[in-house]
Amino acid sequence: MTSIKKGKVYLVGAGPGDPELLTVKAIRLLKKCDALIYDSLIPKEFIQYTSNSCRHFHVGKRRAQHSFSQDQINRFLVELAKDHSCIVRLKGGDPFLFGRGAEEAEWLVQNDIEVEVVPGITSGIAAPSYVGIPLTHRDAGSSVTFVTGHDGDNKKFQAVNWRKLANASDGIVIYMGMHNLDYIINELIAGGLDPSTPSAIIHQGTLMNQKCIKAPLDRLLNKKKTNGILSPSIVVIGKIVNHQIEKCSPILSNLSLPKFNKSCSRERECIFVEH
Ligand SMILES: C[S@@+](CC[C@H](N)C(=O)[O-])C[C@H]1O[C@@H](n2cnc3c(N)ncnc32)[C@H](O)[C@@H]1O
Repeated sequence: MTSIKKGKVYLVGAGPGDPELLTVKAIRLLKKCDALIYDSLIPKEFIQYTSNSCRHFHVGKRRAQHSFSQDQINRFLVELAKDHSCIVRLKGGDPFLFGRGAEEAEWLVQNDIEVEVVPGITSGIAAPSYVGIPLTHRDAGSSVTFVTGHDGDNKKFQAVNWRKLANASDGIVIYMGMHNLDYIINELIAGGLDPSTPSAIIHQGTLMNQKCIKAPLDRLLNKKKTNGILSPSIVVIGKIVNHQIEKCSPILSNLSLPKFNKSCSRERECIFVEH
């Protein structure tokens, strides 16, 4: 009996947006792949690394605007592996940091599909660096915590205990924190974090529309509203914010993030195989 030859899926980290932060390995796989599946936090210019024969699928997700469920994406990956040899599943930042990459890898393994993860530069490190904020400093931060501000639907374990976190880490880096920022700040202060703790929000880090605002923690929300800061943004809280060295900030990429568009009209292909 001959077994069906299945392709291999690479879960590739695309970094925070600046293409110069793509790894050499990511670029090699983009050039080689015959199918590319990508999210909404990926500049459309990244498609240009692929060959003319590569098929492209956009499965972007944004809060309250999920075009495809995670289950659908998982099943689609398995379908693609049946008739493609090299599939790149390109995910913003790092695939294993708040990217649901582990769920996709687990699913692929369960379905007997070969899978390999390719780490990427996470936005929680890159966005602060692009405004010159260090995440650790001998005088201000010996520990840093990466935490999600979005408690998620159907999570199988307890949500973040912000009150306990308040004094457990010198620096706090929050992903997906824009929607619940009011609650998060109140909980951190209730847990004992000094309301005057230096804080920053970096929006669209590394990209041409990057914005950074800074304020003491108890004034951060107000400043966010005044400046109209939305997602995607990284929040940094801790004395490290006062050690910002603006002069070492890299030049921004001239790319921007695609506007979310459910119809995917810009993409070469946006079909979705459901079974
Ligand atoms: C679903 S998480 C994915 C995180 C990703 N796996 C990573 O490692 O960066 C999406 C969140 O990442 C953050 N994010 C991603 N790209 C960003 C960027 N260029 N600038 C600021 N925040 C970004 C935002 O907090 C956004 O809500």
